[in-house]
Amino acid sequence: MKTELVKNFKEHFNREATGLFFCPGRVNLIGEHIDYNGGKVMPCAISKGTYLAIAKTTEKKFRFACLDFPETAELHIQSSYSKAGKQWFNYPLGILDHLIQNGYELSGLDMLFSGDLPVGAGLSSSASIEVLTIFAMSKLFDINISRVEMALAAKKVENEFIGVSCGIMDQFAVAMGKSNEAILLDCETLQHEYIPFECGEYSLTIINTNKQRALAESKYNERFAECGAALKALKKELAIEKLCDLDLKTLEAHQHLIENEILFKRARHVISENERVKKAATALKTGAFTDFGSLMLASHHSLKELYEVSGIELDTIIEFAAKFKSCIGARMTGAGFGGCAIALIKKDSINDFTAKLVPFYKNNIGYEPSVFVSNAEEGVREIKL
Ligand code: GLA
Repeated sequence: MKTELVKNFKEHFNREATGLFFCPGRVNLIGEHIDYNGGKVMPCAISKGTYLAIAKTTEKKFRFACLDFPETAELHIQSSYSKAGKQWFNYPLGILDHLIQNGYELSGLDMLFSGDLPVGAGLSSSASIEVLTIFAMSKLFDINISRVEMALAAKKVENEFIGVSCGIMDQFAVAMGKSNEAILLDCETLQHEYIPFECGEYSLTIINTNKQRALAESKYNERFAECGAALKALKKELAIEKLCDLDLKTLEAHQHLIENEILFKRARHVISENERVKKAATALKTGAFTDFGSLMLASHHSLKELYEVSGIELDTIIEFAAKFKSCIGARMTGAGFGGCAIALIKKDSINDFTAKLVPFYKNNIGYEPSVFVSNAEEGVREIKL
């Protein structure tokens, strides 16, 4: 990937790249649809991600190209930009816009991107390209900005420039990932702790449903709004700021405040999931992987039944994984509605798992899933040219 990118850079821009950067994608191990409800999540960065070959130029232009999409762009440096339709380069452009608006002077840039993350598969390809761009800018222009600030800036771009009301989890995970560690992140305070995630004889297996996610964005925003409505109803009697301030017992004792049954289910998922994250952290710290696996399965069940963000494709994978004897836990990861599932499977059984899952899934769904294995990996970084 690296050599191909550098070679293509020269062919495309007719000059040598002077910098090379990589930002991973992420999976969330547990704590789904929690970040925007102010609770705890446990993601880790993965081995696949996005690369950027770059050079500063003396022309007052930003040039964007990508090996994975045909569209290119050449934009004069100006004081602000707005989103260009659904083009891939909106993500790096949003970051450059953010920096310019914050008073940073940038020179012309030639940028060639490429990635091995499946796009739109729930592995945070957008957070990856955003954090990648801001990290590269910090190195090229000596901008003194911490990794946490980079994650916050990338979230702001995603919320305001791109227009997706996501939480902080994805940007934080790809900026702050550490090799063989899961990140236990409090999404309200941003306090975080690294928990060893080597899993001994088990492997973190990522299974892409390969489903086209058409409605994901509108359904995500719908869940976001439902949580806001449930919180508003509970605030009539409870002095809380966010759903994750509650425990399950208190929620149940105040069920009468939420008349709408669907809103109650959504709140029940959020609060029970937040409690599962705390239990999952204890399980990992004590090496109780089978307990961790059971919590993953319970998380999936809650996302399917209460939060209703799974779907036949993800459920087919989880149903198969739950019955596979060398698998101790599996769940959907990310926003849902397609995207990816994760499973903890004994290292020596991955080939057997894949060989049996693929035909089972194809028979039920009509096309094949993709399976790959990853460790928990380092976050965004510079690579030697
Ligand atoms: C998407 C969002 C995250 C988070 C997850 C669900 O990945 O970008 O902020 O809300 O969905 O946990």
